[in-house]
Amino acid sequence: MFSDCSDRVPVEIQMRNNEVYLNGVFVPSDRARVSVMDRGFLFGDGVYEVIPSYGGHFLGLDAHLDRLDRSLAAVRLSNPLSRDAWRSVLARLIGPPPAPDQAAYLQVTRGTPPERDHLCVDGVEPTVFALAKPIKPRSPDIASLGVVCITRPDIRWQRCDIKTISLLAAVMMRREAEDAGALEAIMIRDGLVTEGTASNVFVVLGDQVLTPPAGHEILPGITRALALDLARSGEIRFAEQPIPAEMLARADEIWLSSSTRELLPVTRLDDRPVGDGRPGAVWARMDGLYQRYKAQVRDGRI
Ligand code: PDD
Repeated sequence: MFSDCSDRVPVEIQMRNNEVYLNGVFVPSDRARVSVMDRGFLFGDGVYEVIPSYGGHFLGLDAHLDRLDRSLAAVRLSNPLSRDAWRSVLARLIGPPPAPDQAAYLQVTRGTPPERDHLCVDGVEPTVFALAKPIKPRSPDIASLGVVCITRPDIRWQRCDIKTISLLAAVMMRREAEDAGALEAIMIRDGLVTEGTASNVFVVLGDQVLTPPAGHEILPGITRALALDLARSGEIRFAEQPIPAEMLARADEIWLSSSTRELLPVTRLDDRPVGDGRPGAVWARMDGLYQRYKAQVRDGRI
């Protein structure tokens, strides 16, 4: 599972990170087992989070755990762990500072009832699973070249604010993006930009940054919220407002944001350059603010 980082991560850390958390115990990943009756497996009936950490310190842990609470409440599951228990499980998975940069993944499913039925009987214990995996360092090409995206109709359901493990539409669109030589698909619903398959979207027009408003149409990204805070503190003008799809064609800049990818400049969309086809000045300023924030997290100062 971690073979892609074997040349960067010391062996003892890889070994510790091979450990996953499953229903109250830490076990080597190849010994972790979940029943075929698990509702996560049968129905995609569960929610998840992905939380970045730098040097053994989480970025936005409470914001992610708050969003987990909201996702669980929305699907009528109670949180199986206290905040302190989540903190200690996730801290053990990433290891103490100075640990390599990793993302903690956690998921809670509605557990393993005796029969497959859409309706779940009461009293079933949820399945709780978590692991840590390395965050790949950003390629230096990003700042000079940016990334390529395509647009696609948003074929997902109507509660995209819930971070559900049912990700089939996102998986399909990500494949379409890959096949088109793109990193991400930016989705359009009713003529408006919603988000990427696993990222939020920002558009720059002149000196103003726009991003679609929070609501059922998008996941309220933790990186999105941080970017808006940083924009505020860096006196960058922004607005949360609906973005008509046509606006993408005249945008000076387009960015994506996510916990594992940070802020990415999109320089080609649907085979046309975005702005002058290079990462823009507003992105560079925002990225500077983001990298400074991340450095403070890494030093344990935030
Ligand atoms: N995905 N929108 C969608 C649909 C996402 O799946 C994600 C993140 C985001 C960005 O949210 P955040 O800034 O909180 O990471 C927006 C994660 C990284 C994933 O599925 O792996």
